[in-house]
Amino acid sequence: MKKVWLLLPLFLFGSCAGNKSGDIVKENFDFAGKQLKFAFTEVERVRAELGKTPEELPSPRNIQADDSLRLVRAKDWCSGFFPGELWYMYEYTKDDYWKEKAIEYTNLLEPLKSYKGTHDLGFMMYCSFGNGYRLNPTEHYREVLIEGANSLISRFNPTVGCIRSWDHNGDKWQFPVIIDNMMNLEFLFWASKISGDPVYRNIAIKHADTTLKNHFRNDNSSYHVIDYDTITGDVRNKHTHQGYAHESAWARGQAWGLYGYVMCYRETKDKRYLDQAEKIAAFIFNHPNLPEDLIPYWDFNAPEIPNEPRDVSASTITASALYELSGYVNNGQEYKEKADIILKNLTKSYRVPLHGQHGFLLNSSTGHKPHGSEINVPIVYADYYYIEALMRKNKIDKK
Ligand code: GLY
Repeated sequence: MKKVWLLLPLFLFGSCAGNKSGDIVKENFDFAGKQLKFAFTEVERVRAELGKTPEELPSPRNIQADDSLRLVRAKDWCSGFFPGELWYMYEYTKDDYWKEKAIEYTNLLEPLKSYKGTHDLGFMMYCSFGNGYRLNPTEHYREVLIEGANSLISRFNPTVGCIRSWDHNGDKWQFPVIIDNMMNLEFLFWASKISGDPVYRNIAIKHADTTLKNHFRNDNSSYHVIDYDTITGDVRNKHTHQGYAHESAWARGQAWGLYGYVMCYRETKDKRYLDQAEKIAAFIFNHPNLPEDLIPYWDFNAPEIPNEPRDVSASTITASALYELSGYVNNGQEYKEKADIILKNLTKSYRVPLHGQHGFLLNSSTGHKPHGSEINVPIVYADYYYIEALMRKNKIDKK
C-alpha cells in the first residue's frame, strides 16, 4: 500500500536528475504559447463554419468523438478556463499580446455576472475575471466580480449550510451538492477581502464545514453528490453522477476536494482543512490502483482497470494543489516531488503534438464516462490547471 510513497524519492532522483530547475516550465510555456495561438485560429474557424459570433460561442471546451472542436456558450461551466489560461500566459511572459487576448476572451463572459443558475460561477468568473483582476485590476472587473459573487451566494441555503450545485435532476435530488463545489469558494473568500463584507467568506466557511461533515468516507475518499433535505437540512442520499458507482472514488472528485481544502486552509488557517487535504492526498497516493506515472484512471474503482481511460485533468488539479500544500507543512518536499513527477510525466507522455488537437495542451482527460461523453480526450480544464501548476512550480523554484 505504501510502496508508491517509498519509491518516490528514488523515482524522482532517477528521472529528474540533470534537469535544470525551470527548464520544464519554460519549455511548457513556449509550447503553450504556440498551441494557444493555434487555438485562436481554430476557434475562429469553427465559429465561422457554424455562423456564430464570439458572444454566442466564446470558449473552447473539448474535442468531440468525431475529432471536432467543441466551443461552448458563456453559461457552460467550462467557459472561464480558456481566458484563465491566457491570463497565466500573460503572467508568465509579461507580454501585452497575451493580456490583450485575455481581455478579449474574458470580456465575452460579462453577462455571467447576473447568472444564478449554477454553482460553477467560481470556475467561470474567478478563473477569467478573477485572474484578470489579480493581474490587471480595474474598477470595472471589480464590479463584475462582486455582482457575480452575489449571484453565487444567492444559491446558499442556511438550513442545509451549503451552496446548491445543480438545478437539474429534480426528480432524483432535492438539494444536490457536489464535491466540485469546493472550488467555487475561492471566489467568495476573494469577494470578502476586496469588499470588506464578511458575508461571502462566512458562506464559504459554512459550506466547507458542511462538506467536511458529510462528503467524506472513513477512508477519506469523497462521495460526488450529497443530496440534502431543504426542510431539515439532513442528508437524503449519497450518490455519484460522473463516477463509476455511488460508493466508488471518482478521480476528479478527489482532486477537487484536495485543491478545495488546501485553498480553504490558505484563506482561514483552520487546521481541520489542512488535515483533510493531507488525508485526501494520502488516499490518492496510497491507492493501489494509482498507476506508477501518477496519472489516475477516471475512477479509482473503475471495474476494468488497467483497461480504463485515464483522467489527466485529475492529475493537473492535484499537481497544482500539491505545490500549494507543499508550502504549508513540514514534509512539503514530498508533495512537491509528487507534483514534479506528475508534470514531468504529463510533459513526456500526455502532451498533444505541436499544432495538433485544435490547440489544446494535454490528451487523455475523461469528463463524464457514465454518460459516454468526453472520454480520453483533451479538455480545457486539464490545460488550465496544468498551466497553473507550472506557474506555481516556477514561483516555488525561484524562491
Ligand atoms: N465540475 C464538473 C466536473 O468536474 O466534471
